[in-house]
Amino acid sequence: MTDCPAHIIDRDMSTSSARPKTKLWLDVDTGIDDSFALLYAAASPEAELIGVSCVAGNVPVEEVTVNTAAVLDLAGLNRVEVARGADRPIERPLVTTPETHGPSGTGYSILKAPPGRISERDGVDLIVEKVRNHPGELTLVAVGPLTNIALALDQEPDLLEMLGRLVIMGGCFTVTGNTAPRAEWNIHVDPEAARKVMAAAGKGTRNLPLFVPLDVTEQVLLRPDHVARIAESAGRPLRSAQPLHADEGNPLLDFMADALRFYMEFHFGYDGIYGAFMHDPFAVAAALDPTLVETVETTVDVETKGELTTAETVADLRNAWGRPPNAAIALQGRTDLFLDRFVTRLGALARADLL
Ligand code: BDR
Ligand code: CA
Repeated sequence: MTDCPAHIIDRDMSTSSARPKTKLWLDVDTGIDDSFALLYAAASPEAELIGVSCVAGNVPVEEVTVNTAAVLDLAGLNRVEVARGADRPIERPLVTTPETHGPSGTGYSILKAPPGRISERDGVDLIVEKVRNHPGELTLVAVGPLTNIALALDQEPDLLEMLGRLVIMGGCFTVTGNTAPRAEWNIHVDPEAARKVMAAAGKGTRNLPLFVPLDVTEQVLLRPDHVARIAESAGRPLRSAQPLHADEGNPLLDFMADALRFYMEFHFGYDGIYGAFMHDPFAVAAALDPTLVETVETTVDVETKGELTTAETVADLRNAWGRPPNAAIALQGRTDLFLDRFVTRLGALARADLL
């Protein structure tokens, strides 16, 4: 581990509040919106980020790991452990999506991690160890393919029971997929892992895993005016809102603008909107504040052998299978409230980074 860069405040998330905090473990494939999930966790006073495991998905796991460490350092969390996990899905070859997240995963921003910053531990081993060390206490938020979680279940079959809660950004239930007509990206990358996790959750898990799917995350649209508000509250109004450019000088704002300009251009080409869906940050926010989502308890399984529907997340909403619920799925959310919080918290974080 290295010292913080000079512009960064070294923060210790465990000590800054008298109120009990939610102990978070994030599993990420950073990724632009994953970066903002990390920043949202870093900026949330009710969160204590215990560590982060990385998984191949949006980009290969080496890039995911570097991006994750670098983003945490930008947020002043240079002591939070970042570990490399699985480099490929459990049964299929890895597919990545540079067209969505840029060649290295963070859009027009190319990040580096200082030597020694990445943990020498394996990410899957670390998940298992931390869950065993904090029984019932950790909230594990998985915002990438579920490969690491499936592999952790091989080591610790009671993993889900030992967690405070598992929150999954993934799937689509009442809306179409974003990768195939019925498939969302995270599940599409490793459907066998997702199926394994849902099978484990079907064995009577006390705390049902929470799915935060596209149904709700595609209602969370970050627009340039939100970013302008973040920049203003950090005392550095944007140079341009569309295309998005920061007034250079604040490393965190520079990163946000360079990453989001790429992501907004992607969404403009793909969805016709100059904005960006904040899938992963909303999943972290729902983990920290469950009142942000309305949920339905149901049985979820994952198609792994479909001709047209591989990676579909199937919710048995009428209980045709007669199986007990193994998930809570969020179909509606208080997305405006979340976006306000996101702006306020990231603005405060960017302000704190200006020394
Ligand atoms: C999910 O896919 C990834 O590209 C994003 O990071 C998010 O986790 C949305 O489908
Ligand atoms: Ca992700």
